[in-house]
Amino acid sequence: MKVLVVGGGGREHALAWKLAQSPKVERVFVAPGNGGTALASSLRNVAFTDIVQLRTWALAEKIGLTVVGPEGPLAAGLVDDFRENGLRVFGPTRAAAQLETSKAFSKAFMVRHGIPTAAHATFHERAAAHAWIEAKGVPMVVKADGLAAGKGVVVAQTLQQAHVAIDQMLPPDADPATCVVVEEFLVGEEASFIVVCDGTNALALATSQDHKRLLDADQGPNTGGMGAYSPAPVVTPAVHARAMREVILPTLRGMEKEGIEYTGFLYAGLMVDAQGHVRTLEFNCRLGDPETQPILMRLKTDLLELLLAATETGAQRQLDQMELEWDRRTALGVVAAAHGYPSDPRAGDTISGLPVPAADSMVFHAATVRVGDDVATSGGRVLCVTALADNVRQAQDRAYALLRAIHFDGMQYRRDIGHRALAR
Ligand code: AMP
Ligand code: GLY
Repeated sequence: MKVLVVGGGGREHALAWKLAQSPKVERVFVAPGNGGTALASSLRNVAFTDIVQLRTWALAEKIGLTVVGPEGPLAAGLVDDFRENGLRVFGPTRAAAQLETSKAFSKAFMVRHGIPTAAHATFHERAAAHAWIEAKGVPMVVKADGLAAGKGVVVAQTLQQAHVAIDQMLPPDADPATCVVVEEFLVGEEASFIVVCDGTNALALATSQDHKRLLDADQGPNTGGMGAYSPAPVVTPAVHARAMREVILPTLRGMEKEGIEYTGFLYAGLMVDAQGHVRTLEFNCRLGDPETQPILMRLKTDLLELLLAATETGAQRQLDQMELEWDRRTALGVVAAAHGYPSDPRAGDTISGLPVPAADSMVFHAATVRVGDDVATSGGRVLCVTALADNVRQAQDRAYALLRAIHFDGMQYRRDIGHRALAR
């Protein structure tokens, strides 16, 4: 079967790498892909990303399955379009993707269906939002409604920061539909809880934990994610059961009740408190990046088989009867980011020292581009160096040893990926 992966980040490199291992896969195409997918002999990049152009190409190429990585094409209705044209595609429709694309929708949805989350209020008017934070005090979290690539959330420690965030997210000339969500600050440890959904059933992937801040000890600005590892020890079996019972299953049932079938990956960003209570910080309608890289390094099950099962319809839906097999070891990935990331990443720095692929380590590319036999940076998050080992410490040692051999001008990375697991 020919398979298409849509996207060009580290997550998509990992998806394509894993899919290419399936004996049933004839060729994996990646649109637009990156320098890493361009260099891999089992993968082939497709230069365009326009939905109609991609669908026309996929029909002509007889693509058997399309997997969508990022939220952008989901929000733009790629899945709706491909399905209407008879193509098999794994991902949520535009309506289902609202769980991620609108914070106001997802918060209201959680309230309607009793899904635990931070107390919140939604505002279209600045004055009301300012008055609310004056009344409630700080710390407080202010969130822009639409997709913001990790930049739409401000954790305000002072009233001043909260007021500034509101003014930025609700400017005087904003469209009347623009709103902000202001919510209670939750305390605890975060985990990424990702499931595969076929519209009826949900099957959990291995747990993981991301590191969202740029600098060591969780300092500095929020980023798309500077490193991740799997499994996440904070998700004990009891927490896992609660996450399925209190968050994932009510979400699927709730979507069904509202007439929206959810197929695709569903990512619940969870806050787990000291008592093991679980609250939902956010939903993403896709896999996490960089969480995917360590998760897929541990997946032993054929990913194509899993995604084909998840795209069955009607009585053929039997995802609940599938069992996934995981490597028992820990996988840990460290992101190498470009000079100036996240505010103003520089492109065009040549990358050297990339290791040859090995069984228990992998350098997944993100913002890279092939230039002849070389690879250069082309954006913010450049590589995710991922290693498997018996425990977190050893996986960390292995990933950092590989990373230290790699060089590009301005390279920045965190030195403490996995610190929460190590502290346990
Ligand atoms: P989000 O995009 O909603 O996941 O927010 C990005 C990051 O902001 C999260 O990963 C958390 O670290 C932090 N965050 C968001 N909402 C809250 C909250 N209610 N309480 C504490 N931290 C939060
Ligand atoms: N790493 C967080 C995300 O993918 O949203």
